[in-house]
Amino acid sequence: MTTNRQWLVAASPRGRALELTDFKYNEAEVEPLGKGEVRVKVECLSFEPSQKGQIEVIAGYSSGTAIGDVMGARGIGEVVESNDPGLPVGKKVLGSFGWQELATLPGRSLQELPNDQFLTAHLGPLGAQGLTAYFGLLNLGEPKAGDTVVISGAAGATGSIAGQIAKLKGCTVIGMAGSNDKCQWLVDDLGFDAAINYKTQDVGRSLDALCPTGINLYFDNVGGEILDLCLERIAMNARVIICGGISRYNATAPVPGPKNYFNLVFRRARMEGFIVLDYINQFPAAIAEMKRWMEAGQLKQSTTVIDGFEQLPRALIQLFEGVNIGKMMVNTNPG
Ligand SMILES: NC(=O)c1ccc[n+]([C@@H]2O[C@H](COP(=O)([O-])OP(=O)(O)OC[C@H]3O[C@@H](n4cnc5c(N)ncnc54)[C@H](OP(=O)(O)O)[C@@H]3O)[C@@H](O)[C@H]2O)c1
Repeated sequence: MTTNRQWLVAASPRGRALELTDFKYNEAEVEPLGKGEVRVKVECLSFEPSQKGQIEVIAGYSSGTAIGDVMGARGIGEVVESNDPGLPVGKKVLGSFGWQELATLPGRSLQELPNDQFLTAHLGPLGAQGLTAYFGLLNLGEPKAGDTVVISGAAGATGSIAGQIAKLKGCTVIGMAGSNDKCQWLVDDLGFDAAINYKTQDVGRSLDALCPTGINLYFDNVGGEILDLCLERIAMNARVIICGGISRYNATAPVPGPKNYFNLVFRRARMEGFIVLDYINQFPAAIAEMKRWMEAGQLKQSTTVIDGFEQLPRALIQLFEGVNIGKMMVNTNPG
């Protein structure tokens, strides 16, 4: 029998920050494959803030993962055993594998990936975060050349793509991130026009200096005080796109709403939230367009890759600590 190493959910972190003890190491025997099933050796797992919500079982966001279940995660792996003629051994696939070395799933639940230079991009620009940036910015944000676009969580997986797309559309792009290194990377490597370190700089004053005619489009990944400071500075007909609110994900009590929301009335502006899955029918066309941008060197992928299966719980905690530049991933089988 083959042993499968796994990490199970051990506790719900609702109303507090994640802890290592929220996860429990487990070893399980691998069962024979059923009809149409495929065994995948997991190679790389995706990390995203919504995984905390997944184990808090917050209604309306995801169906949730119960205590005792394998921790959920999307990933890329290789087929090592197959009862699905359409997915022979050796194929690279994308799927919801969870935190385990071997995942057994119906072949029809997996997406075959070309084994080319864009393989890991399917967890980044060509995956959920890239698509979130694409539809949030383009469909809801409706950027126009010359707009001033502000993006929070700008050095993360979603924000870094949203900012690059806004640059492609001819906007002036200002990012906010939590370290000087991240801010420098946004400007020097990704071509943002300016970046604000929200931990060390006065965000309000910096926005006043960088957005003299106001903010036309604010792409919000963090919520809280930063959302309020941006609402205070929106231009006429601004679009405020609520993508995420990571500043509230560890809150122990209900979080107050933004004080400056009434500027939406004065400035005839719009504030709108969305879930990327709303656009699932348009994913193939968006992925094709972003792939073309990547091939043309107009859209860069950046990843922070942590090595080691044993690092999985720590990596999720580190995502909330802002360790990542670009997309956070764990390589489960280094070397
Ligand atoms: N609506 C949707 O369909 C959808 C889909 C995917 C993701 N999202 C949301 O998009 C946001 C970004 O997700 P992602 O996967 O791209 O993650 P990410 O930005 O790659 O990683 C999270 C980043 O958040 C920042 N952060 C952590 N705590 C913070 C705080 N208290 N205040 C401000 N920033 C904080 C950290 O960077 P710093 O060093 O800059 O602090 C960290 O690197 C999340 O809020 C997520 O829930 C929404």
